[in-house]
Amino acid sequence: MSGNKDAWGSRIGLILAMAGNAVGMSNFLRFPVQAVQNGGGTFIIPYLVSFLVIGIPLLWIEWSMGRFGGALGHHSTPFIMDTMARNRLWKYIGVFGIWTNIAIAAYYCYLESWTVAYMVHSIKGSFLGLDQGEVAAFFDSYISLGTSTLGIPWEPFVFFILVLLLNTYVLSQGLQKGVERVAKIGIPLLILFGLFLAYQGATIDAGENGAIHSSIEGLNFLWTPDYSNMWSPSVWLAAAGQVFFTLSIGMGTVHCYASYVKAKDDIALSAMTSGWMNEFVEIVLGSFILIPISIAFLGMDRVQELIELGSLSLGFKTLPYLFMQWGDVIGILSSFLFFSLLFFAGITSSLAMGTPWIGFLKDEFKWKHSPAAWSFGIIIFVLGLPTIFLYKYGVFDEYDYWAGTVSLVVFALLECILFAWVFGMDKGWKEITRNAEIRVPPIYKYIIKYVTPVLLLIVFLGSVFTPKDNDWEGAISGTWILDDSSIISKLRNTGLKEKLANASDSETIAFVTDQLFYVNASRLLLMVVFIGFAFLVYIAYKKRQSEPINPPH
Ligand code: ALA
Repeated sequence: MSGNKDAWGSRIGLILAMAGNAVGMSNFLRFPVQAVQNGGGTFIIPYLVSFLVIGIPLLWIEWSMGRFGGALGHHSTPFIMDTMARNRLWKYIGVFGIWTNIAIAAYYCYLESWTVAYMVHSIKGSFLGLDQGEVAAFFDSYISLGTSTLGIPWEPFVFFILVLLLNTYVLSQGLQKGVERVAKIGIPLLILFGLFLAYQGATIDAGENGAIHSSIEGLNFLWTPDYSNMWSPSVWLAAAGQVFFTLSIGMGTVHCYASYVKAKDDIALSAMTSGWMNEFVEIVLGSFILIPISIAFLGMDRVQELIELGSLSLGFKTLPYLFMQWGDVIGILSSFLFFSLLFFAGITSSLAMGTPWIGFLKDEFKWKHSPAAWSFGIIIFVLGLPTIFLYKYGVFDEYDYWAGTVSLVVFALLECILFAWVFGMDKGWKEITRNAEIRVPPIYKYIIKYVTPVLLLIVFLGSVFTPKDNDWEGAISGTWILDDSSIISKLRNTGLKEKLANASDSETIAFVTDQLFYVNASRLLLMVVFIGFAFLVYIAYKKRQSEPINPPH
């Protein structure tokens, strides 16, 4: 039996920690950009539908799997899944629930460290007096480890180490004294800062401090529906992808947190409370900051251009410049609060990513809590290095693609099949509704069994075979040419190979050749880590077989 005796201190602590797991940097940076890119107001329809028929079912599935496994002494997905099925292979599927977290944490902690650096730079006044191009250049120089205005050599690396040490230290303090305490402080502060910034963002008038539009126009831009986009599969894929990432489902963190819930406690209401809390932060606070402020000062066309450059571009290259338009004091304060908010959103999510690994080591190899937490820090340090030093070659994006996008869907699909079809929906339903403090709508029994897995399969296949330029109609009626963003083209490096073939100068040829090498190398690294974890699961399984008490089947 596991010697893992960690537990939540209180229900509110659990809910805040779970909400913190979900509420992350994507609520403020990725969500509004996804909305603009995918039809503005129409995005909310596929987004909410995905939340209702993919997000909520998966929350209930993962919470109940976690509580079920926790009662048997399992706190990570390999052996939670193992106890739910006869087939021994399920525990290897469960490896996703450790690996995904580790791979995401490696780049997510790096991203989190930018927010701390930007908090410091906001206070120091680094953005005062800079024009927009100069703020963008500041970010480019930062990310390429250029000269530090703080006089710190390798500044991004130093901030990464600091953030990682902080994460690891908090994790080493255990659930109650570490994770729960940070969530109890971080989430209320985040909401408070968010409300302040949302108020600022929603009350800009044209002409005030140089704004060219009022923020209402920005909100209209974000939420005016464009029905021509409504039925585009790419919009639905983007909406489902955002629901996955924002709720941290298909990762393994929810199972792990829920495995520390007492067997007699409710999960149905707790899952809804934390899930809807995330939606409030994402839809309400997330909509009122980035886009309205940017549009008010820059106008729609410029914001569209900036969004094309990626979801991080507006946040780190533009927003500090816009904050400074509000005057030195309010500008510095707003910038500091914005990056603090991102930091709290980030750390409450990255802490969650550490817990499945810690739970696994404690359950299976009888590690003590603190060394298990520090081993997480060491792994993330090693895996994070390529995202820092090879950032310009796209290694960061590569981790995000395979771990933060593809893996979530694959794991969610498989766990849904396990839960509804292998474990069995009748047993599964009992697990969801046991000691429930709300009435779970019975229709969800059918949604979980039929609708969610089918939709997950569609999302997965849509990502494997995405047609060129997302032109689904053209592909269905004519020739199906794959888009560079499809999983198949990604695996074949089609986009990079084309870039190489079209490159005319030796500098570009050398760069893209290196890029191809590093992209492949980072995939290999992630694969080796996965195989390594699977091997540990195998050893754990063998160990269990040799233990007379609690033998595996
Ligand atoms: N759920 C976390 C986020 O939204 C990972 O950033």
